[in-house]
Amino acid sequence: MAAASVPSEAPAHQKAGAIESVRHPAARRVADVLRNRSGRPRIIVIDDAENIGQATTSGLRIDSVYTTSSAASDQCATRPVDDGVHHYLLDDHVANALFGGQKHTRMFALARAPRAWALDDLRGSRGDVVVLDGVRMVGNIGAITRTASALGAAGVIVLDSGLRTTFDRRLIRASRGLVFSLPVVLASRTECAGFLQREKVRIATLSADAESPLHAIRSVTDRIALILGSERDGVSQGFDDLANHRFSIPMKPGVESLNVSVAAGIALYEHAAGQEAASPSG
Ligand SMILES: C[S@@+](CC[C@H](N)C(=O)[O-])C[C@H]1O[C@@H](n2cnc3c(N)ncnc32)[C@H](O)[C@@H]1O
Repeated sequence: MAAASVPSEAPAHQKAGAIESVRHPAARRVADVLRNRSGRPRIIVIDDAENIGQATTSGLRIDSVYTTSSAASDQCATRPVDDGVHHYLLDDHVANALFGGQKHTRMFALARAPRAWALDDLRGSRGDVVVLDGVRMVGNIGAITRTASALGAAGVIVLDSGLRTTFDRRLIRASRGLVFSLPVVLASRTECAGFLQREKVRIATLSADAESPLHAIRSVTDRIALILGSERDGVSQGFDDLANHRFSIPMKPGVESLNVSVAAGIALYEHAAGQEAASPSG
């Protein structure tokens, strides 16, 4: 993925002056952002050059980039942002102290949080909508965001996930920064059901024990909302009651279910393939 600008070397003043104290103002700023537990943080942390590049490609303005001293000596360390951004070199022990037990990478950025995605951001698209009905593992939500982006979905609606923001550090990492470009909306079940009904989006649930095998999704020509259930309990009763279609992905005996992100990828692909075959040029 193209970064906005990638100078290969950090400027000389950075090499000379690594931040060696957690009391340095630039280090304190990181500590403040990490400590903030607000559901609507003003400033967010973006780990890794790839995710920083994805954020800038999506129009996010990066405020500052921090590189740890071990990364700065690595020839592969690049700075994926334009000038006008503050660059800091952090001594490794300062980075370790700031992040404590939290995982951290050798390059990260601070940026002003974008506006939270809303259900209205999913209007007017022809792509499918992926609804995660109680999925709580951030790694799964991120992987589904990435797959949904790759397969042309309109976005992802996340219900009862425990997340307070979709610009959560872990979700940014797990989605490879695609949460900045694909709408990932936190909503309640009632808001989500109301939106799908108003927009006249047909609802298809996915469960391992549904009767219709997934290939039948190929004959659904309209965009659909694909409802995937939680890792533990599956699709909620409320969405099962609202479903226009209920599909299962056939599995070999002895396997109880697929990982939810794998099921999402297979279903999105199958529906897109059916729509493509039905299009005049397909
Ligand atoms: C790990 S599974 C949940 C298993 C859960 N014990 C249950 O009762 O459904 C998570 C979600 O992935 C989707 N899924 C997993 N395997 C599937 C399959 N073979 N066919 C359709 N969907 C599947 C469903 O949406 C399911 O709710």
